[in-house]
Formats: sequence, C-alpha cells, structure tokens
Amino acid sequence: MTSKNASLDQAPWDRLAAAAREALGHSYSPYSRYPVGAAALADDGRLLTGANIENASYGVTLCAECSLVSELFRTGGGTLTEFICVNGSGEVIMPCGRCRQLLNEHRAPELRIMTPLGPRTMDEVLPQAFGAANVTGG
Ligand code: THU
Repeated sequence: MTSKNASLDQAPWDRLAAAAREALGHSYSPYSRYPVGAAALADDGRLLTGANIENASYGVTLCAECSLVSELFRTGGGTLTEFICVNGSGEVIMPCGRCRQLLNEHRAPELRIMTPLGPRTMDEVLPQAFGAANVTGG
C-alpha cells in the first residue's frame, strides 16, 4: 500500500473515533460502569452513533451496536461501511461476539471494523459467519 492510500484509509477513522467518544456521553451504564460509544458510516455517507443502554435485568442490556443499528434504520436504512467502538477511556475495543453477528447482518460488502490492531474485514473478525444465505439458501 502506498503512503497516499494509507492516509486516505485513515481519513474516516479520526472522525468516527471522535463521534464514538462523543456518543459515550449518551450511555446508560449504571451497572457495569463501562460506557461504550459506537460510530459508523452508512453506504450513503451518513454518520451513525450509538451507546450502550443497560437494564436492571442485565441480559436485557442493549450494546452500543444495537442502538447504532437502530439509528441506521431510523434514519433511512442502508448498510455499514466503517465501524468503530470505544470504551470509557476512548480506547478502541472489539465489538462483542453477539454484536459482530449484528454488524454482519447489516454490513456493506466492504465493511471495515476498527480494532485495537487496526482496521479489519468482517471475515477477519467473524470467520465463516452464519448469515442470511444460510437461512434463505441464496
Ligand atoms: N458493550 C457494548 O455496548 N458493546 C460491546 O461490543 C461490548 C460490550 C457493553 C455492554 C455492557 O453495557 C457493557 O459494555 C459491559 O459489558
């Protein structure tokens, strides 16, 4: 990869990291005290954000990815092309396993997920994913 491409690749991530850190302020996480902020771009360029929303019945908790996908649909649908989530210190974290499945469902083919080791494809973070084709036979 050339340095020019590398700088182009970096372009969305600074903006997305800032948006994810801003989204932390909307987290409701009184039980874990572990706020998570998420941000993504949709395939039409829309910026989406989400934060985790916990529940006294712990298993009912909505991860930040859940509220982000809700925002995707609320604002017009489409698919995700870049995704990042951060912890309360603003550090990049891996999406949990359940949310990798959620992201897989709503990804653009080219979706890149930021990880502590840099951007990765969906196939790298959820190999051999179970998806729509398994159910529909398509
Ligand atoms: N959490 C997320 O929001 N997304 C993830 O990918 C990892 C975990 C939340 C759920 C819970 O509110 C808190 O982090 C601690 O697990």
